[in-house]
Amino acid sequence: MKTADIRAAFLDYFRTKDHTIVPSSSLVPTNDPTLLFTNSGMVQFKNVFLGSEKLSYVRAADVQRCLRAGGKHNDLDSVGYTARHHTFFEMLGNWSFGDYFKRDAIRYAWELLTGVFKLPADKLWVTVYHTDDEAYGIWNKEIGVSAERIVRIGDNKGAPYASDNFWQMADTGPCGPCTEIFYDHGPEIAGGPPGSPDEDGDRYIEIWNLVFMQFDRAPDGTLSPLPAPCVDTGMGLERLAAVLQHVHSNYEIDLFQHLIQIAAELTSTKDLANKSLRVIADHIRACSFLIVDGVLPSNEGRGYVLRRIIRRALRHGWMLGVRGDFFWKMVQPLVEEMGSAYPELAAKQSFVEEALRTEEQRFGETLEHGMRVFDEVAAKSGKTIPGEDAFRLYDTYGFPVDLTADIARERGLSVDMEGFDRAMEEQKERGRRGSNFQAKGLMPAELASQLKPTVFLGYETLSSQGCKVVGMVREGKQIDQVAVGEEALVILDRTPFYAESGGQVGDTGALSNASGSFEVSDTLKMGGVFFGHAGRWQGAQPLRTGDLVDAAVDATRRQATVLNHSATHLLHAALRDVLGAHVTQKGSLVAPDRLRFDFSHFKPVSREELARIEAMVNAEVRRNAEAEVRQMAYDDAIAFGAMALFGEKYGDEVRVLKMGDFSTELCGGTHVGRTGDIGLFKIVSEAGVASGVRRIEAVTGTGALAYVADEERRLGELSQLLSSNGDDVAEKLRQVLDRQKKLERELESLRAKAAGSMTGDLASSAKDVGGIKVIAARLEGLDAKALRDGVDQLKQQLADCVVVLAGAADGRISLVAGVHGKAAGRIKAGDVVAYVAGQIEGKGGGRPDMAQGGGLDKPQLPDILTGTVGWIGEQLAG
Ligand code: ALA
Repeated sequence: MKTADIRAAFLDYFRTKDHTIVPSSSLVPTNDPTLLFTNSGMVQFKNVFLGSEKLSYVRAADVQRCLRAGGKHNDLDSVGYTARHHTFFEMLGNWSFGDYFKRDAIRYAWELLTGVFKLPADKLWVTVYHTDDEAYGIWNKEIGVSAERIVRIGDNKGAPYASDNFWQMADTGPCGPCTEIFYDHGPEIAGGPPGSPDEDGDRYIEIWNLVFMQFDRAPDGTLSPLPAPCVDTGMGLERLAAVLQHVHSNYEIDLFQHLIQIAAELTSTKDLANKSLRVIADHIRACSFLIVDGVLPSNEGRGYVLRRIIRRALRHGWMLGVRGDFFWKMVQPLVEEMGSAYPELAAKQSFVEEALRTEEQRFGETLEHGMRVFDEVAAKSGKTIPGEDAFRLYDTYGFPVDLTADIARERGLSVDMEGFDRAMEEQKERGRRGSNFQAKGLMPAELASQLKPTVFLGYETLSSQGCKVVGMVREGKQIDQVAVGEEALVILDRTPFYAESGGQVGDTGALSNASGSFEVSDTLKMGGVFFGHAGRWQGAQPLRTGDLVDAAVDATRRQATVLNHSATHLLHAALRDVLGAHVTQKGSLVAPDRLRFDFSHFKPVSREELARIEAMVNAEVRRNAEAEVRQMAYDDAIAFGAMALFGEKYGDEVRVLKMGDFSTELCGGTHVGRTGDIGLFKIVSEAGVASGVRRIEAVTGTGALAYVADEERRLGELSQLLSSNGDDVAEKLRQVLDRQKKLERELESLRAKAAGSMTGDLASSAKDVGGIKVIAARLEGLDAKALRDGVDQLKQQLADCVVVLAGAADGRISLVAGVHGKAAGRIKAGDVVAYVAGQIEGKGGGRPDMAQGGGLDKPQLPDILTGTVGWIGEQLAG
């Protein structure tokens, strides 16, 4: 059975059991501060388990792309060393949200494996959490698995609930006991059954994990029960494929064989079992899907994990003898394997290739040097690579420390990680900041379970009377009242206030009643479906849960925001049209005064392209098409051609905004009635914000008019200064600049001439001290450069000489001294300058043959210079 057929059979089975089939979510979790990557199928359902988000179905199944590199679940270091570890893998999963529990979860799994996939029952082993008698009983009594093949697993990881059979997504969040199903690959492969000392071998492989989600784990480790027990299962597609294709390593399944074959060709490797080929085949999947999901290589957070994986792959290519780029060429075969299951991969092929090639070229320059440095360090280090050297490899040659450790391990060495950490402290601090997200609108689960989602009225109206306060929250805790002057988040049963999402800022305004007014400074989503009005209460009586208020949005601010939001959609479409379909949204801010749009693109957008983009948006504005909004099912919307944005989480029913034939996007934001409302669109800046990400800022409506007026004012000032009529201002300015250049050149040559004639006079008046000519003279209006030229000319004319020239301008003196020919070694130019400068409150210094300084223009300067000639004479004589 091919991998593609297994995906389909899995989903078909659960469809017949009334499960809703949902699409894979992004590898980058949406709105989850606790997690770096989607590491299992349940990530997109976390808030459903916690009770703060509700879905229209209670059973679901999917095929989820997952990444276990960096973070709590990290398999990066094992890839290449075992038959079954991957950074990227696909997880088949089924879920019950407060519907069925242990019995049905176990039955479904058994029926699918033995009935549909026809796995022999006697090849299957199961584990249960040591205290889970219920699961044990179901397996043993109801399914009929014999007691020898059911293993109870205790807390085998050093703490209560730290067990292979107690699953948790991260250090906090939903968790619970689990039962796992293992497949016995047969006695010819080394390894023991689960729970035995040699369980880490490849003989008994876990294929399916059924988690009975029951608790929410707090940061201090305490477990509190979830609102309803749930089921979360995960089966590794690659492992199941290995079983069904009668191979024992995941790398031997159809999907990987193709990738390994191509990797072998690109690296000219004969031995298809070489472990570096596996690493490359694994890593191209992780890297490509990360880039598809919007991550680009960088030195922080997710981008750094991507960089580490890419560099590890490149190093393995290097070990196979590759000395140019090769890794990006693996994208095409990957698209052949997985492009039909994941159309987003096929659509972004060239973007992924370009991102990889850029990183490959960047690292390629230092990889070779770094490997040489590593060899030197290894030769002198004994068993342990010092932390400082590991840091140098990191800092100068771009070797992530796990890459260094990986190379060290191959040679039986280790790395002093503590030493590395010390050296890294500063960078680590930055990394921590990158991954230390703060959740803003925490919703207490108990409150969420009592409330219905807030009804949003703000598409149609900006004010609404008699809205009911249904809940209030401060610092994550539910409160019943807010006293005068206090702050809180107020949740209403319905509201015209837009809550920040999709880049559009939250509304401001007021909630008022007879006893006072709650000034809303922001509105944010809480628990996905509740609108929290953030602000301060000013009133005679406290505001209480149950009170009624009239809600009024600041209409001017909202209107300005709306123009910017609709213009953002037009800009997005124009960017794709002008620059190409690789352009995807990387971030967006829609505020009242401006819009900011970040998108993937590898080079600066040229002036000409910007002009075309701006003109295209303004043409759509003038077309004045109606902005049509439709509600439809997600799949219908995608079929309708709507663009879904990266990082957004969409429900089953989505809102589609269509403006003419130009832009169709999924969007929950608020928009104009017709595109003409935007009035005018002006781009104000374009810049790079990260590797492969550009940012455009623009203004609309009155903001755009103000921008144009400001530009006009500036142009007016310029024209006035240049006596231009405005049209020829550039020409006039060019003339002024040309003239300035010409004058500078003339001035330069006049100075040279003046210096020339002066030096002639000076040379003839030089004093002779034993064959050495000595000059100390004051010259009017010469700067230091002219003085240097003068000294140079005198040196040439006089051969053996000591010269000091004092140029006077604006009450100050510049000094330049030169020593030449036979005088050299007998007196230093620096001393001459110092001698003069010391008498005119100045200073100076330089080389023995040429020095420079300055001071004040004093009336006694002529005497000082006469004295200087005498002093020089003494020095030469002495
Ligand atoms: N969430 C469970 C796992 O990843 C199913 O193993």
